Amino acid sequence: MRALLTKIEQASRLDRIGDPVQRAVQATLRPQRVRDFLHGVWLGHPLHPAMVQVPVGAWISTAVLDLMPGQRRAATTLCAVGTASAVPAAVAGLNDWAALSRDQRRIGLLHAASNTIGLACYAGSVAARLAGNHRLGRTLGWLGLTAASAGAYVGGHLAYKQGAQVNQSISELHRMSEGWHSIADMSALPQRTLVTREIDDVSVILYRHGDDVTVMLERCPHQSGPLGEGEVQEIDGHACVVCPWHGSTFRLNGGEVVHGPSANDQVVLPTRVVDGVLEARLP
Ligand code: FES
Repeated sequence: MRALLTKIEQASRLDRIGDPVQRAVQATLRPQRVRDFLHGVWLGHPLHPAMVQVPVGAWISTAVLDLMPGQRRAATTLCAVGTASAVPAAVAGLNDWAALSRDQRRIGLLHAASNTIGLACYAGSVAARLAGNHRLGRTLGWLGLTAASAGAYVGGHLAYKQGAQVNQSISELHRMSEGWHSIADMSALPQRTLVTREIDDVSVILYRHGDDVTVMLERCPHQSGPLGEGEVQEIDGHACVVCPWHGSTFRLNGGEVVHGPSANDQVVLPTRVVDGVLEARLP
């Protein structure tokens, strides 16, 4: 199975489907605040994996109730709840998918295809149950659960093997040693300009505003884009850095994510000034 998924990651022919679908998703899911909502910027965490809890829980419960006598009504209700809730979860997933790299999008297509088959089976299952054909409803439910489980397996590969929608910058902290690190002379630090420095080979960006200096990890949490090459923009009265790769935007005062596709805040390091030298340490 792992060898097959690796082949799919490398199957560039899938881009003939993936590229136009990506453009269509980006053209449809607008404006930016809709995309931000679906990415989970307001939650500080990707929304899609949180939303799939509802259909997965409801569908598994349906399967259990289908094995018990006298539970037809409850099983039909849960089957319908799972099917209805899968639709917004899929939309959030599509929004995340459109901002992934090509190899991730290829696996994402497989994840989406399995779950679409699962959703179609469950929609048929609800219709059959409501029409009184509970035997067919149960059969379609089992088929749907099989397809959705395959989709979950592929989704696990996408997140845990390929690192899709995982905070890419946090591992940088593990390469930084404890204690205070000298990083710049305050007298040489320009105002309102991004400056890049290294702490133990970990890139950080410095942004000075008056006597306040932000020291933030440089690698973007979304896909490791170089924030040091990004633009500084004023948003709602706050200076923010915009990632040059896909536009994730973080407040320079605190690291809070303002626009996705990243749903994670960026890590800001504590600082102090000793004898005119700026120092930073692990949070
Ligand atoms: S790497 Fe994608 S937004 Fe920064």
